[in-house]
Amino acid sequence: MAFLSDTLTRVKPSPTIAVTTKAAELKAEGRDVIGLGAGEPDFDTPQNIKDAAKAAIDAGKTKYTAVDGLAELKAAICDKFKRDNGLDYTPAQVTVGTGGKQVLYNALVATLNAGDEVVIPAPYWVSYPDMVLLAGGEPVIAEATADTAYKLTPDALEAAITPKTKWLIFNSPSNPTGAGYTWDELKALTDVLLRHPNVWIMSDDMYEHLVYDDFEFCTPAQVEPALYDRTLTVNGVSKAYAMTGWRIGYAAGPKDLIGAMRKIQSQSTSNPCSISQWAAVEALTGPQDYIAANNKTFQRRRDLVVEMLNACDGITCPVPEGAFYVYPSIAGCIGKTSAGGAAITDDEAFATALLEEKGVAVVFGAAFGTSPAFRVSYATSDDALREACTRIQDFCAGLR
Ligand SMILES: Cc1ncc(COP(=O)(O)O)c(C=O)c1O
Repeated sequence: MAFLSDTLTRVKPSPTIAVTTKAAELKAEGRDVIGLGAGEPDFDTPQNIKDAAKAAIDAGKTKYTAVDGLAELKAAICDKFKRDNGLDYTPAQVTVGTGGKQVLYNALVATLNAGDEVVIPAPYWVSYPDMVLLAGGEPVIAEATADTAYKLTPDALEAAITPKTKWLIFNSPSNPTGAGYTWDELKALTDVLLRHPNVWIMSDDMYEHLVYDDFEFCTPAQVEPALYDRTLTVNGVSKAYAMTGWRIGYAAGPKDLIGAMRKIQSQSTSNPCSISQWAAVEALTGPQDYIAANNKTFQRRRDLVVEMLNACDGITCPVPEGAFYVYPSIAGCIGKTSAGGAAITDDEAFATALLEEKGVAVVFGAAFGTSPAFRVSYATSDDALREACTRIQDFCAGLR
């Protein structure tokens, strides 16, 4: 009898973490490697947030809290949803977890039975399909291509829905493409969902505040109020407030679903770190001006990277609306051979050869369900990005 569970055989380790590990190993060997795999802002957590955490420690706010979040944090989250999204939620409709990741996972575990399907638009964040599998469900991939700037079309959504569909996981701006849906684009998708009353929407709004060029963020429950009763709106402090290590995410939705998620959390992790929760209260209620300042930096880097990648032979890179990723297509590179003699048969071969021959670490598109492409995270310095893109240009120029 196998000791490890059968469920575990259904999932794979995170490919993004694998790339980061490989780049770190090469660096440790003394190789000159530029990592473009990071999924976190390179900015420090703002001082007012750090101070709030220190004050929480000094005030002895170091005990268990309510399982799914402090009353003060839930109040701040309700205010945030009203202020930013025009959505009314009561604290009983709000849950706080150890990162958005735990919140998404709790929701899936709380709702999926064997055979239930979850529609996941590709390119997708690497964790969605595996979380669905761990929770006993079946991921159904609805692919979006470079032609629509990697945004899901209503027809592709309609085609993916079956009588077994329980959820659509929606993510805008997207990890890995940075694509953000306009109000009209999202409305076209919510119109499809109105025709399927059994399908719920899990909206992952983690990159809400990281948007550029006056792009206006919107979320499904706001665009189509008729879907409010079957939408879980997920968000967190990791990306906008540079708080990835603090591990606070949250969601709002129907009370019964929130109660079911609380039950799972009460028997697994209990409350997220009390100190981080107080820091998150400060993040959501304190000054917000550094978000715009950080976004200026991100936008400058996005423009730099998109321009340099589009100058590479064989690469086309859409200009994304948000997040800190770009997702260039490398269709023009497939079938060629690198200067170092590697056959570029697919995007994994491209990424491997790029790392070995030029010391640039990117994550290949197959990891996100759409090939041939790769993901660049531009959450690193302008100098590193310029050097990395120059090396990618050299690599592409050497393809024969
Ligand atoms: C699309 C998306 N959703 C959710 C998360 C989870 O964020 P966290 O668990 O740090 O709140 C991430 C992190 O990379 C992400 O990219």
